[in-house]
Formats: sequence, structure tokens, C-alpha cells
Amino acid sequence: MRKGPGFGVTALKKKLFIKTYGCQMNVYDSDRMADVLGPLGYEPTDTPDGADMVILNTCHIREKASEKVYSELGRIRHLQNEKAADGGRMVVAVAGCVAQAEGAEIMMRAPHVDMVFGPQTYHQLPEMVTRAVRGAGGVVNTDFPVESKFDLLPEESAKPQGPAAFLSVQEGCDKFCTFCVVPYTRGSEYSRPVAQVLNEAKRLVSHGVREITLLGQNVNAFHGEGPDGKAWGLGRLIRALAEIDGLARIRYTTSHPRDMDDDLIDAHGTVPQLMPFLHLPVQSGSDRILAAMNRKHTGDDYRRLIDRLRTRQPDLALSSDFITGFPGETDQDFADTLRLITDIGFAQAYSFKYSARPGTPAATLEGRQVDEKVKDERLQAVQQLLNAQQVAFNQTMIGRTLSVLFDRVGKLEGQLLGRSAYMQSVYVQAPARLMGQMVEVHITGAYANSLSGHVVTGETMTQAASRAVEVHA
Ligand code: 5AD
Ligand code: SF4
Repeated sequence: MRKGPGFGVTALKKKLFIKTYGCQMNVYDSDRMADVLGPLGYEPTDTPDGADMVILNTCHIREKASEKVYSELGRIRHLQNEKAADGGRMVVAVAGCVAQAEGAEIMMRAPHVDMVFGPQTYHQLPEMVTRAVRGAGGVVNTDFPVESKFDLLPEESAKPQGPAAFLSVQEGCDKFCTFCVVPYTRGSEYSRPVAQVLNEAKRLVSHGVREITLLGQNVNAFHGEGPDGKAWGLGRLIRALAEIDGLARIRYTTSHPRDMDDDLIDAHGTVPQLMPFLHLPVQSGSDRILAAMNRKHTGDDYRRLIDRLRTRQPDLALSSDFITGFPGETDQDFADTLRLITDIGFAQAYSFKYSARPGTPAATLEGRQVDEKVKDERLQAVQQLLNAQQVAFNQTMIGRTLSVLFDRVGKLEGQLLGRSAYMQSVYVQAPARLMGQMVEVHITGAYANSLSGHVVTGETMTQAASRAVEVHA
């Protein structure tokens, strides 16, 4: 079908394909971009074929993530040419952190790109689209505008896709870990005002959302302005969110150990809606490497912090991030990492080979870069240990009854998929009407990455209750 040249602000329906790379902040941003483009006639589609606009929302955190963008742009170029041969036009945009870091360089490597814009600018999309479509050259926008995009996004647009939603409350990072590009691509820390967060949360809940994950590059550094004019920490924000009727689950990610303050630790023991699962990256177990990473904590600081958290919430399941082969990492340093993992015991975790990122201090540690083969071996060893811990953790669920929020349909007929409080995926044969509901599930199977079980019906609950009575009688 010919679309014609009408790319201005018209009511003509146009197809928008957004591909998201990287973290959950990008997932949230992609949804908001779709919200901003909706009034311009763009409707989301799930394939780039024949789309009127393709946005790659990119990640710059490791080299592999960045390079993926260029190979995808190569594929998109063919689709763009096909569309042009049909008399149409496909606008191609690169957004997110690669856009922020590389700016106009992207257009030099890939001249068919029409727009390059950073994570702080997507509220300006309507203007950028108009310029890109009408103007001669491409649009590059990597500003950190004085206004906050959060103040300018369409109010009622944030329509949730299901019962579990992300809510971005904080952006940027001032920690400057020496391996990390985030402080350069996302800028310095910014927290949204509490009232704005509460309003968005209430709106999500009014649309049926039962679970909210608060997002931020360093979310526990949250210090948004409260209604009292004072800066509120994340613990206080969580307590206020817990008062929203119908909001059953609260999570937050991702955090820095140094920003776990007393109030937040306390919230883990006192706010029932705050799920007993915490992603708290430690990166390494070696004090020498932690210092070189500018983490400003030791392995024992982390151990003590976990002890305090577990004292408040004994049921807490932990997740973390690890980097293997940071410049100068010795066998002993790596052994310290394995020891820390063994000491703590993680329910799940992510591990990565160190990737030198241009412009970061660690990338310039000449002569200290670890051999690729050694990085690989260490990555495999760390993953083996973490996988074993994950399997062991999942096994402990067998025979337990867990609350599961069904948020997806499974691949098999009649199957629903949901998440436990500990973030495990749980597969269950269940009627479709339970979609979006929080349901008690008796766990019968545990695998590397998921659990399975059956719904505890009213009937089985009564049986269980009468058994309990018999036992106690
Ligand atoms: N190399 C490898 N892993 C990295 N991460 C961040 N920067 C790098 C890098 N240069 C990892 C950290 C962080 C996670 C999001 O990505 O473990 O917590
Ligand atoms: Fe990067 Fe996280 Fe360190 Fe900030 S705290 S610099 S986002 S690794």
C-alpha cells in the first residue's frame, strides 16, 4: 500500500517499529516514545518490514551492545530501500545511549539514518520528526535540555501493557565507576518529584497494574522533592506508594550498595508490598579491584550490608552483577569474587566480561588489560557457580505455595506465565480469566530458569486448611 508523502502532523496512520536494546530504562523510554508519537499518527507494529518509522533504542554499556546497532542498521537499510522502491519512505532513527555517545558519527557510518537523539530529548520528538521529514539533512540531538522530559510527556498517555509496569523515578549517575559509560551517556543524577511519581503510579493502578518496578540507573540514590519541600529517599517513596489501594507489589532496580540507607533497609522489613527480591550489583569480591573500580566499598562492606538486610527480611532473595577480567584482575582477585558469591548465595545474577569503553578511566589502563581468553575462562567459572546457586534456589521452592502474578500467555495451549515474589518465571496450566491476577500456585517443578506448578483452587485450599486443622487437633 502506498502511503504518500504526508509525514507532517497528520491523522494518517503510520507504522512505528521500535527495537529496544539494553536495560529496563530503555524499555520504559521506548514506551514513552511510542506515547509521544501516537498523536502524530504512529501506531506500534512488531516488524520493521514496511514500517514508516524505525527507531533503534540503543545501549552503549558494552562493546557488543553498541556494535549490534550497526549490524541492525545494515539490515534496516535494505528495508528502507525496498520501501523507497515502492514509493514510500522509512524514517530511521537511532535513540538511546549509543546515540548520546556517538552523535553525528552514526550518520557518517550509516548515512541512511535520519535522526539521532539521546535519552533526554524524546519529548522533543514531534519537532525532530517534522524536521527530519521536511528538512534536507538529518537531525542530531544529544543535548541535556534544561527542562525535564518527565515534565513534558503527555500526561494521560502512559497506558500500561499488562499488570506489571515500570515506572522511571530516577535517571543518571554520579558514581563514576571507572568501567562505566552511564555517567557520560545519561548524565548526572536526577530524581522526579514525589507527587509526579505518585500520580503516575495511581494512574497505572487505575488501569489494572498490580506490580510496579521503580526504575533508575542508580534508583536507590533517589532524592525527589516531596510534597513537604524536602528531599525524600527511596524508602519514604516506597512507603507512600504502598498506601495506594490495589498496588500489590513494589520493586526497584538497579541499586548501588553505598546508597542502601537505613530507611530503605528498614522498608524491606516493614512494607509487605516491597517484594523480597533485591538486585544489588557488587561487580567483584576483591577489595583491590573494587577500589580500582571506584566502587567505594569493600567485599566485607557488601557482606555486612546483606546481613543487615537479611536481619530485616530473612526471606530476601538476592541478585547481582559481576564483571570478570577488569584491568589488573589477578587469579587471587578472581578467587575473592568466587568466595564472595559462595558466602552470599545468589538467587540469580548477571555476569559480563570486562569491555573497555571509550572515554572511561579503566579503558586507558594500558598494559593492565586482561587477556581475552582469561576473561572468558573466568566468566565461565563465575557463571557455573551462579547457575548452580540459581538451580539450588529454585529447588527450594518445590512444595511451597507462591503468589504468582500472571502477566503473559505461555507457548503451550492453556498455559499462563507469571512471576513469583522472587522474580522467577512460573508456568501454570490455568484458565485465561486468571490473566492479570495474583494467584496462589503450588510449586511442583523447578528448572534452571523457571518453576512450574498448579493453581491452588478454593477447593484445594479448603482441603489444605482441614488437613492443617487435623494436624493441630
Ligand atoms: N564492561 C563489562 N560490564 C559492564 N557493566 C557496566 N559497564 C561494563 C563494562 N565496561 C556491567 C556492570 C553493570 C551492568 C549493568 O553492566 O556489571 O552493573
Ligand atoms: Fe555505572 Fe552503576 Fe557505577 Fe553508576 S553506579 S557508574 S550506573 S555501574
